[in-house]
Amino acid sequence: MSIQGKIIAVTGASSGIGEATARELAGRGATVIVGARRTERLEKLVAELRAEGATAEFQALDVTSRESVADFVRFAVERFGKLDVIVNNAGLMPLSPLSALKVDEWDRMIDVNVKGVLYGVAAALPVFERQGYGHVINTSSIATYWPIPTAAVYCATKAAVNFITEGLRQESKFVRATIISPGVTESELAHTITHEATAQFIGDYRKISIPADAIARAIAFAVEQPEGVDVNEIVVRPLAAN
Ligand SMILES: NC(=O)c1ccc[n+]([C@@H]2O[C@H](COP(=O)([O-])OP(=O)(O)OC[C@H]3O[C@@H](n4cnc5c(N)ncnc54)[C@H](OP(=O)(O)O)[C@@H]3O)[C@@H](O)[C@H]2O)c1
Repeated sequence: MSIQGKIIAVTGASSGIGEATARELAGRGATVIVGARRTERLEKLVAELRAEGATAEFQALDVTSRESVADFVRFAVERFGKLDVIVNNAGLMPLSPLSALKVDEWDRMIDVNVKGVLYGVAAALPVFERQGYGHVINTSSIATYWPIPTAAVYCATKAAVNFITEGLRQESKFVRATIISPGVTESELAHTITHEATAQFIGDYRKISIPADAIARAIAFAVEQPEGVDVNEIVVRPLAAN
C-alpha cells in the first residue's frame, strides 16, 4: 500500500531522473539499490541517503550486459530477501539526423534504451513470478508522442519501451507495469549528443526543463498505489511545452 519498506532497484541512478527517483523513494522509506557505471557518483549518493537515515546500496551496472543486470537484481534479492520494484531508467539520447549515419550511436541507443530494459525485465521477472508480485517501471519519453527530426532512433527505442511494457502488462496478472513518459527534464541526457547543430538546437529546447524530482514524484505515485492498482502510464511535461 505504500513505499515504506519496499525494496526498489533503480538503473541509471548516477544522475538526473534515476538519482532523483532514488532520493524520493529512499526519503519515503524505501530501501534503494542504485546502479550505473559511474560508481563514484553512486557511492556519494548512497552515503548521502544513509546519512539521512535511509537504507541504500549501490552496484556497478552496465545495462548493455545481460550478466551485469542479472547480477544487479541478484544482489538486491540476496541482500534484502525480495524485490518489489525495478525501475529500468538508464538511457541515452545521442540525437542526430539519420543522414549523419552515426550508426554506432544508433547501436548504443538500441543496446541501452531497448536491450537494457529487456535485460531488466529478464532479471526481475523470475523473481516476481516466484514472489507472486512485483512492479516493472520503465522510463520512456514523450518522444513517442512527439517525434522530431534528429530523434528517429531515440523515438523508436522509446516506442519499443512502451510496447515492451504494455506487453508485460497484458501477459501478467500480478506484475504491475508502468510507463513513465517525461517531457524535457533537467539531467545530463543531452551530454551524449555529438552532432553539433543538434546539440545547439536541443540546448535551446531544453531551457524549459522541469526538475528531475517532478518525474521522481510520478514514479513514487505509481509505486505507492494499493496492490490491485496498476498505473500504466504517466506523462509529465513542462507547462510551457508544445
Ligand atoms: N531528461 C529528459 O528530458 C528525459 C525526457 C524523457 C525521457 N528521459 C529518459 O529518462 C531516463 C534517464 O535519463 P536522464 O534524463 O536522467 O539522463 P542522465 O542524467 O544522462 O541519466 C542517464 C542515466 O543512465 C545511465 N546509463 C547510461 N548508460 C548506461 C549503461 N550502459 N549502463 C547503466 N547505466 C547507464 C547513466 O549512468 P552512467 O553513465 O553512470 O552509467 C545515468 O545514470 C532515460 O531513459 C531517458 O531516455 C529523459
